[in-house]
Amino acid sequence: MKGFAVLASGRGSNFQALIDAMKAGEVPARCLRLITDNPTAYALERAGKAGIPATVLDFGSFPDRAAYEEALLRKMHATGADLFVLAGYMRILGREIVDAFPHRILNIHPALLPCFPGLHAQRQALEHGVRVSGCSVHLVDPGTDTGPIVLQRCVRVEQDDTEETLAARILAEEHRILPEAVRLFLEGRLEVRGRRVIIR
Ligand code: GRF
Repeated sequence: MKGFAVLASGRGSNFQALIDAMKAGEVPARCLRLITDNPTAYALERAGKAGIPATVLDFGSFPDRAAYEEALLRKMHATGADLFVLAGYMRILGREIVDAFPHRILNIHPALLPCFPGLHAQRQALEHGVRVSGCSVHLVDPGTDTGPIVLQRCVRVEQDDTEETLAARILAEEHRILPEAVRLFLEGRLEVRGRRVIIR
């Protein structure tokens, strides 16, 4: 059975969606490890409850970013995972890590890329005044939220939406497309042709 590892920095609700999908038999794979840069991430509790081993690489305890990335790269290799899933991992992966796992890292982003990359995507969408936003799962390349798109889901932006209400509605869709993308990847059904991802 194929295995994936998750990188998360906080709440970990997308990580939980993956755990639930595995339990329901919707993602026939093993989650080999959670790696977090944040010792107080709630994702750690979720890993504990699900019996998934976890590693904390406390970003603040490393002398610099290069030392942190070196440790992270070593840890990622050690998992033996076929796939890495960034589920609310709040750092940009360095070039060396992206190059070490070409087209083997997925990220979930709370906007319809290429609109509103980076932080506060839901706020960006509201401030821009779009009528529709949503979420995207994409393969990670060296840019910020720029890699080939695997799945997207639309969400209507209502006139009385706040950042919180919009984020909550988008999050519900994130929880659907992330497990779906992980399943497609691990079933070997994704083929990358340039910027386009073909689902077979
Ligand atoms: C999600 O909105 C995800 O798209 C973004 O960060 C948030 C993480 O939420 N990258 P959670 O930690 O999975 O609950």
